[in-house]
Amino acid sequence: MSGDERPRRLTLGALVHGSGGHIAGWRHPLARPDGQLDLDHHIRVARTLERGAFDALFLADVVAIWGHDLDSLRRTARAEHFEPLTLLAALSTVTERIGLVATATTTYNEPYHVARRFASLDHLSAGRAGWNIVTSVVPLEAGNFGRDTHLDHTLRYRRADEFVDVVRALWDSFADGAVVRDKAAGSYYDPAGLRTPHHEGEHFRVRGPLNISRPPQGHPVLFQAGSSQTGRDFAARHGEVVFTAQTSLAGAQGFYRDVKARAAAHGRGPDDVLVWPVLAPYVASSEAAARARLEELQDLIHDDVARRLVQDNIGDLDLSGVPLDGPLPAIGVTNRSRSRQQLMLDLARRENLTIRQLALRFAAVSSVVGTPESVADHLETWFRGRAADGFNVSFPYLPGSAEDFVDQVIPELRRRGLVRHEYEETTLRGHLGLRRPSGRPAGPSRPCAAEVAGR
Ligand SMILES: Cc1cc2nc3c(=O)[nH]c(=O)nc-3n(C[C@H](O)[C@H](O)[C@H](O)COP(=O)(O)O)c2cc1C
Repeated sequence: MSGDERPRRLTLGALVHGSGGHIAGWRHPLARPDGQLDLDHHIRVARTLERGAFDALFLADVVAIWGHDLDSLRRTARAEHFEPLTLLAALSTVTERIGLVATATTTYNEPYHVARRFASLDHLSAGRAGWNIVTSVVPLEAGNFGRDTHLDHTLRYRRADEFVDVVRALWDSFADGAVVRDKAAGSYYDPAGLRTPHHEGEHFRVRGPLNISRPPQGHPVLFQAGSSQTGRDFAARHGEVVFTAQTSLAGAQGFYRDVKARAAAHGRGPDDVLVWPVLAPYVASSEAAARARLEELQDLIHDDVARRLVQDNIGDLDLSGVPLDGPLPAIGVTNRSRSRQQLMLDLARRENLTIRQLALRFAAVSSVVGTPESVADHLETWFRGRAADGFNVSFPYLPGSAEDFVDQVIPELRRRGLVRHEYEETTLRGHLGLRRPSGRPAGPSRPCAAEVAGR
């Protein structure tokens, strides 16, 4: 069913970060410190989210130790995490409806690998896969792939553009229904339904075809989180769900309008691209108790972590020896994530923050703190105010904060008619009201069937 045929519904994704998304989350009494690598823990969280009829469970990723320098990691849970598609494949067998979304970088992968993995996950999960397309932000990733430095921001988006085109063409290698597996006729697939992309571009030469039939969703759902001008344009061209970190309603409304306008310029409708700001909920029966929950976590941030949180997210500056309770030194342009950097610099200037205060603000930047009613008010205001089509809910400590949200906030959202009571569809595209991409039109094929048969 397309977005035109039903009323606008608030959609929800869950950003699951092992033992929690808050930098000190793993130390919380209601967090599992071994949550990064414990399968039972991940299953418990996924089932909780499915009980809340979340549209998607999202695993972020970087292809390195998740930080910038090893000394900043020993006090966080970021030093280890599962390869996300491996974990999602496991979760696909113990969940039934929730969408399963993972990050894969276009900078340190080949399109064939990515097309194949997400097609596999889509088949394994009967149409619940989503790919969060990133160009990578962490410089440590470069060193794992034979490079000294991270690829330039503009260049990595150019590569990403071509990468996505190749992945799409690979997913369309087989037309829908081309794999007939006709025992009687002895025909496994219909050669007329097989297309070889034969791609030759600036960054990739990929013959194809993909060695798996067309994914149940046609294409797994494409997620993106570009925020810079180049990133937003990329998101508007390719993204079907766009994640964003926003600090104010007006800012979020501006981002929302901008992404929808950019999408329209690419011939896409407003329902073809959903905007999901990140939100980190702290929920309790009173505002004071909810605030205490957040403070409790903030108090667990070690001084070393506070310093590195600022240094690593701004990038290319050294704060060692700079007093935590003093102001931020001046910073020039860097090759790092520009939106993240800008977000921090704006915050520090606007509110005249010390380094420690900035670290605490950053650690809590997407927090929404309150009672189930006031948290639901926030979601409703942003949703009705066209600042969001849904939210990427980043749970600060797990499993505790996901359980609180599902048991307390979801019922309130249901009472208000903002979210559904149970799943109505089976695929992630179905949940989100996104169109299934039609395959390439039938017609004469390149000589690939013969090529493949001959090998
Ligand atoms: C909710 C959210 C999730 C993200 N997940 C990842 C991720 O898993 N891996 C990654 O390398 N970058 C991730 N990013 C960073 C974005 O891909 C992007 O690089 C960033 O928003 C900066 O935008 P820009 O590339 O346009 O400068 C995420 C961003 C947001 C807001």
